[in-house]
Amino acid sequence: MPLQSAIDNPGIPAHIGIIMDGNGRWARKRNQNRTQGHLEGLKTAKRIVKAASDMGIAYLTLYVFSTENWKRAAEEVGFIMGLVKRYLIEEMDFYRQNGIRIRYTGDFAGLPEDIGGEIQKALENTKAFPGLQVILALNYGGRDEIRRAVGRFIQDRREPELSGAEAPAITEGGISQYLDNPDIPDPDLIIRTAGEFRTSNFLLWEAAYSEYYISDILWPDWTEEDLRLAVLDFQKRERRFGGIIKP
Ligand code: IPE
Ligand code: IPE
Ligand code: MG
Repeated sequence: MPLQSAIDNPGIPAHIGIIMDGNGRWARKRNQNRTQGHLEGLKTAKRIVKAASDMGIAYLTLYVFSTENWKRAAEEVGFIMGLVKRYLIEEMDFYRQNGIRIRYTGDFAGLPEDIGGEIQKALENTKAFPGLQVILALNYGGRDEIRRAVGRFIQDRREPELSGAEAPAITEGGISQYLDNPDIPDPDLIIRTAGEFRTSNFLLWEAAYSEYYISDILWPDWTEEDLRLAVLDFQKRERRFGGIIKP
């Protein structure tokens, strides 16, 4: 079945989040360095971004690097950061051709300066593009996002005159406004590759009612067809949000 078949269905998810896992295992299976797995994973990311764009998905959040991933060897961390930078710089034509807008979530202040600079440029250069919005979760942790939101929230409660806005209410909606991208709807579907059944700190607040889809396939091996299967699976789910669906 072509990808288009999913688009025709009105139940297509507006927002998909992907925990792109298994790069290291992919490399180990081939007796290669872990960095080779990340290189291959980057190619997959581009393939899946294109497929999501063609499907008509509105938002795609990619978990690129967690606040916990700094525990890895400096060589691996440096390699991943280098890949991100290269991807941001080299893919401008790809973004333009497909109308892809780049967004960011995570602790921006904790990023190496050169990476932060490239992200800033990509956000600026793609901000008018009308198509798929790709949110890069880089130096991202769900708890960290809530921590940063709470910090700004408290500041505005104490001294609302500083931000010029009214003091925010202690409601779910009020707190949500302080998350990294309050305009983006919660993810409908969260995909994790490489067969692990955990969130690893991804979108903790936003995923309260997301549907999860676990794929055994390692991220570098993921294809457009796997995305299509995930979306078709999602479309069979009955989302109740705590309510009851009348028969
Ligand atoms: C995901 O692949 C990429 C990042 C977390 C940056 P891994 O590097 O975690 O791959 P495995 O889990 O070791 O196979
Ligand atoms: C989650 O994968 C983070 C990313 C995909 C960026 P990890 O490989 O870091 O997760 P754990 O350590 O297996 O939980
Ligand atoms: Mg992993």
